[in-house]
Amino acid sequence: MIKIYCQQLALLILLSYVHLAISIQARSDREQQVTPAIGNNARVAAGDNTNYRVWGPKVLCSMLPDDFLECNKPIDHKDNKTAKEEKGYGCLKFGGLNYEDVEHTKVQCTVFNDIDCHGPRTFHRDGVPCIRYSEHYFLTTLLYSLLLGFLGMDRFCLGQTGTAVGKLLTLGGVGVWWIVDIILLITNRLTPEDDSNWNPYV
Ligand SMILES: *[C@@H]1O[C@H](CO)[C@@H](O)[C@H](O)[C@H]1NC(C)=O
Repeated sequence: MIKIYCQQLALLILLSYVHLAISIQARSDREQQVTPAIGNNARVAAGDNTNYRVWGPKVLCSMLPDDFLECNKPIDHKDNKTAKEEKGYGCLKFGGLNYEDVEHTKVQCTVFNDIDCHGPRTFHRDGVPCIRYSEHYFLTTLLYSLLLGFLGMDRFCLGQTGTAVGKLLTLGGVGVWWIVDIILLITNRLTPEDDSNWNPYV
């Protein structure tokens, strides 16, 4: 007799568990429906970003990754400080081996036409390194330096024509300059004349 009641009691407890679970679920569903209403009211306060819904489907143009943008090259002020101050941004010098040595600047970027986004489509992006690449490759130059250093070919190729002629006429400083330049090259003190960095794309 107690056994039968026990089963019924167990069933009753089980049912009330299910009931409890369902009502908790329903309640959290209701709360979730309420949450987006708060989200809709959240606006980005600054400037032209009013009416921008943070949880909306459109991303701010200025937050798009670089792949969606056409950015200008950093402006070269050629060490003219007044020109840089007038413009507000740009590079005084190009190049540098370590991050700390490289100047960084803003550049103007425009979103590609087919990309849909919110806000101004042309803006400035900061933190662009003042670096440029021309057709100077470290390994190729090192080869020239090792094999043709006595003809000054390494310096010719780097655009340092003056010293290259001197190196050629002295046949690599009778061998000494030849070796010195290899060391300078490896320690990165002999670099392209046009302040470009070594081209990383081999
Ligand atoms: C530097 O830039 C300013 C403004 O562009 C220009 O007026 C000036 O002539 C420049 N100075 C030199 C030395 O090039």
